Amino acid sequence: MGKVLVLLMGGVLLVSAGCRGPKPVLTPRYSQAPENPDLHSASQPWLVRVVHVDMELQLDFESECLVGSAVYSLQRSDPHEPLILDVASLDQISVHGLDGEPRGFHLGDTQERLGQALTIQLEEFDQAVRVRWKTRPEGEALQWLGPEQTASGLGPFMYSQGQAILTRSWLPIQDTPGNRISWSARVTAPRDLRVVMSGEGTGAQEIPGDPSRLVWQHELSLTVPPYLIALACGRLERRAISPRVAVFAEPATIELAATELGGTEAMLVAAEKLFGPYLWGRYDVLVLPPAFPFGGMENPLLTFATPTILAGDRSLVSLIAHELAHSWSGNLVTNETWEDFWLNEGFTVYCEQRIIEEIFGKGRSEMEQALARTDLLAEMETLEPWQTVLAIDLDGRHPDMGFSWVPYEKGALLLRRMEELVGREDIDDFLSAWFEAHAFQSASTADFEEFIAAGLAKLRPGAMANLDLNLWLHQPGLPDDAPMAISESLLMVDAAVSRVIAGTDPAMVIDAEWNTFQWLRFIHGLGQDASPELLGTLDGQFGLTSSGNAEVLCAWLELGVRRGYGGIDERLEQFLLTVGRRKYLVPLYDALCSSSEGRVRAQQIYLRARPLYHAVSTQTLDTLIHD
Ligand code: BES
Ligand code: ZN
Repeated sequence: MGKVLVLLMGGVLLVSAGCRGPKPVLTPRYSQAPENPDLHSASQPWLVRVVHVDMELQLDFESECLVGSAVYSLQRSDPHEPLILDVASLDQISVHGLDGEPRGFHLGDTQERLGQALTIQLEEFDQAVRVRWKTRPEGEALQWLGPEQTASGLGPFMYSQGQAILTRSWLPIQDTPGNRISWSARVTAPRDLRVVMSGEGTGAQEIPGDPSRLVWQHELSLTVPPYLIALACGRLERRAISPRVAVFAEPATIELAATELGGTEAMLVAAEKLFGPYLWGRYDVLVLPPAFPFGGMENPLLTFATPTILAGDRSLVSLIAHELAHSWSGNLVTNETWEDFWLNEGFTVYCEQRIIEEIFGKGRSEMEQALARTDLLAEMETLEPWQTVLAIDLDGRHPDMGFSWVPYEKGALLLRRMEELVGREDIDDFLSAWFEAHAFQSASTADFEEFIAAGLAKLRPGAMANLDLNLWLHQPGLPDDAPMAISESLLMVDAAVSRVIAGTDPAMVIDAEWNTFQWLRFIHGLGQDASPELLGTLDGQFGLTSSGNAEVLCAWLELGVRRGYGGIDERLEQFLLTVGRRKYLVPLYDALCSSSEGRVRAQQIYLRARPLYHAVSTQTLDTLIHD
């Protein structure tokens, strides 16, 4: 590639070897209003833009709130315009200039789940302002857990989840993925807890006169969209995996986590070989308490992960490959608005599959691809046509409404189709060129179309003429030319399913050596045809109800509920009362709600379990349970 990246505060200079001089790429978009403004942010960064935020945060575990004060450095294109920040569920807001004098501000009406616009009147000379605030317990981003809700039970825990538009509920900010900022933070927390953030940590300092607390410092001079600013605080231990990879987890999970994630450095090496240099420095993983609502969240330098990936056999580490791949697709090249979300996730799933192939071989990648395609097709049956379009229309809709397997799997299948057409070498060049051309910028679906028209379509006109990009990007459904991965190992399982359904003793056809993916295929394959007796036999032979693999267990519990197999009841309740991962909760509660007695049971369990879940999960479940 022959390029060197020179990193500067708040931006990047791309220096091309052999080119005449450095080419500045300092967020050029915000010199003017974008063609497709972000529907989910009131801020107008092209008029007044925040370029850096310097935060002082105090974590108060007693009242479960964060008290903040931040200085916002500004770039003002129009000296008469106010600064507009997005806020949600914040109290005690005040604004001052750096001269210490108050500045006038106005809090707009609350828009359902979008929050409010905080409009700040600036003096002509203001290059920065200070905002103070306090979070409310009902704010959606932060979750505060009591000791009993952690894996270790040793102390309280808190963490943030910013994506898609939740950062505004703990930090007033121009909360649009089209605007990148650098940041720094000093976070005060009780002395026995550790603070970690999605940036470089520079350690903890004593507070004169206050022996009970410490101040933790972090900063990120590379620019990121606000949804990627994250923090967590709790009783955390750290284990190094390699000089640039470490794992943080509660004492109860640290050993398992360090072993399970021991292959992360190898993944990082594979990813760099495929997609270009890793520009973020460290890659650490924080394993959260089981309440975490996602599988993983790609917070820069510090992936947040659910403990449910700790299966003991590294069978669920594709989630780490996924979050790691976001270091290129998502964090380096960011979807410009949430309507371009497929650019983040579709690219990432494709990249994740390539990392998995590199580390574990083609066979494993094909199994994972085949399972994902089946999930996509099954889910698409339940979606409305607009939800199955890659370049989704979110006008009047919350970004969460665009969340499904479509941006992930349909997006990845588009790249897989391009690979089929132009070959590995050209798709790899395309990926590295895309990441390099848009590094530390945001990109839209239109940018993707232009990039292909100017690049791959010119380079390989014959092959690319066979791709109907408009159909893939702008029409509902899955195009007929979507590739289909064939996995020999899963075909064997399909044959076993047919025989078991036909009455053969499961022990005769199931191989005790089956891997996670084969079990998943088997459980899904049984579907409507499994009697409670058959499930009882399987359980007796293979102990599925006591599986320590969360994917297998969740698929099994769902099947058990749907087929009326009582042997799972106790385990199901225990699972719902400890795990907060939305991907598992939704199918399980949904299965329960498919019968009237089940719905009553679901409501009883939910009443007890709800305080454990993060707002991301309760937002979805509240409607599911009560509809
Ligand atoms: N960035 C997503 C999580 C996300 C998406 C949070 C949209 C909020 C809004 C993350 O990278 C992700 O996709 N996680 C998946 C795992 C993946 C292997 C499919 C998850 O959490 O299950
Ligand atoms: Zn993702």
